[in-house]
Amino acid sequence: EIKGVIFDLDGVLVDTAVFHFQAWKRLAQELGSDFTEIENEQLKGVSRIASLEKILNWAGVDASESEKIEMAERKNRWYLDLVEQMKADEILPGSLELLHWLKKNGYQVALGSASKNAPLILEKTGMISFFDVLVDGNSVSLSKPNPEVFLKAARDLKLLPEVCLVFEDAQAGVDAARAAGMSVIGIGSNLNGTDLSISSLEEVLN
Ligand code: G6P
Ligand code: MG
Repeated sequence: EIKGVIFDLDGVLVDTAVFHFQAWKRLAQELGSDFTEIENEQLKGVSRIASLEKILNWAGVDASESEKIEMAERKNRWYLDLVEQMKADEILPGSLELLHWLKKNGYQVALGSASKNAPLILEKTGMISFFDVLVDGNSVSLSKPNPEVFLKAARDLKLLPEVCLVFEDAQAGVDAARAAGMSVIGIGSNLNGTDLSISSLEEVLN
């Protein structure tokens, strides 16, 4: 029986993929390369620095560790400029209804995201108060598909992994949830290894 629900952030509760895309594209273009939607798909659930390393690799550009840090910071400043314009109406359909329902029905709720910007985004969209536990890119060292982020969320909720359900939109995140021994509902198509696939959180309560 499920007692805790763990949400990924980007692509599950908020539609930030387009902002990540614009900011990475700008960086790729400054590097004399380009960046496509198909490549962006492959960065879902992937940490900022690991994403940068893939982009450098696709662009055939070498960079030192300090250059990488500078580039990741530059991308993040552009990303935050875009996030700045985000309001509560950019929350993905069904998110608020589901969060309300879960709290009303006694479920524990956690965030399990790779993003270091997660607390800021939850504040800006007014969703932060629904969460009993936040685990994000600031508190884990191993990226999805490593299960660390979800195992830490379960531990902080004081729940066993088998009573936790994860909502994920990225294959790396689905794999991480499985590796953690949790149930997983996938959002979007083309995800392997989910217990159930839906196209939006709107479908959960209907
Ligand atoms: C999520 C997104 C990724 C992003 C990562 C880190 O997993 O799906 O596209 O790279 O978070 O986000 P951050 O906000 O820390 O750069
Ligand atoms: Mg995601």
